[in-house]
Amino acid sequence: MTLDGKVALITGGTSGIGKATALLFAEHGAKVAITGRNAERGAAVVAACEAHGAAALFLAADLTDSAVCAPLVAKTIAHFERLEMLVNNAGITHAAGTLETTDAQYFEQVAVNVTAPFLLSREAARAIKDQGGGAIVNVASDLGLRGEKGITAYCATKGAVIQLTRAMAIDQAEDNIRVNAVCPGEIHTGMLEGAMLDRGYTVEDGLAMLRERIPIKRIGKPEEIARAILFLASDEASFCTGAILSADGGTVAR
Ligand code: NAI
Repeated sequence: MTLDGKVALITGGTSGIGKATALLFAEHGAKVAITGRNAERGAAVVAACEAHGAAALFLAADLTDSAVCAPLVAKTIAHFERLEMLVNNAGITHAAGTLETTDAQYFEQVAVNVTAPFLLSREAARAIKDQGGGAIVNVASDLGLRGEKGITAYCATKGAVIQLTRAMAIDQAEDNIRVNAVCPGEIHTGMLEGAMLDRGYTVEDGLAMLRERIPIKRIGKPEEIARAILFLASDEASFCTGAILSADGGTVAR
């Protein structure tokens, strides 16, 4: 699999799944722009990509501000002169049921998990169409495909991302832009640890509880999701569009 010389914009690229994806894309020859809120972590990921011989760029952005989205695409193209791939990875979760979810928590999750991917995808699709084609990969969730207690707004936003993926796949099919989604299950990142603490578990007890519920009986690694994203972004997935790829150790299958 190669991404030789292609340019990718990856949101939330300074940690977890986004960081693993940036490094894997760099290893496979891509030029990588990552967005994030922490310049120090961004610089570290850029240095790690460069260590793979890849050109890399950090773009500071808080995606709760919808006005920053379109300029991220423009800045990537201004730096690398083109764009072939967008990975909408940044996401936020608040472990709260319907009655406990505050307005602020609801609107933050909608802004980061749905509005930003829509605005970034629209802007990227305009540019990618003019260049003859490319790929968008959205990081949704198993919680976009099934319900779960105590995490209502997050489930709603991830379901929306799955439908955004299908609808855009059809809209952009004739522009030679493939649009697919990955649905991770439980993956060991800062987000999962935070969700366990929010629910009143210690990290260790929370992970042990989750492990028992996963058919494969282990928590996933960020690199395992990065590989699914790489596949969907690459030409190896040339006939895949509108696909919703579960990478969840069997959680949704059950
Ligand atoms: P993470 O917390 O390491 O990464 C999330 C990224 O999104 C971070 O880099 C964070 O800075 C960024 N982000 C959050 N709010 C932002 C904002 N307002 N502006 C800009 N960036 C913002 O967690 P992880 O697990 O790597 O999450 C990546 C994606 O995977 C998310 O979309 C998440 O919903 C999804 N996912 C994660 C699962 C897991 O078990 N870890 C399961 C299913 C989906």
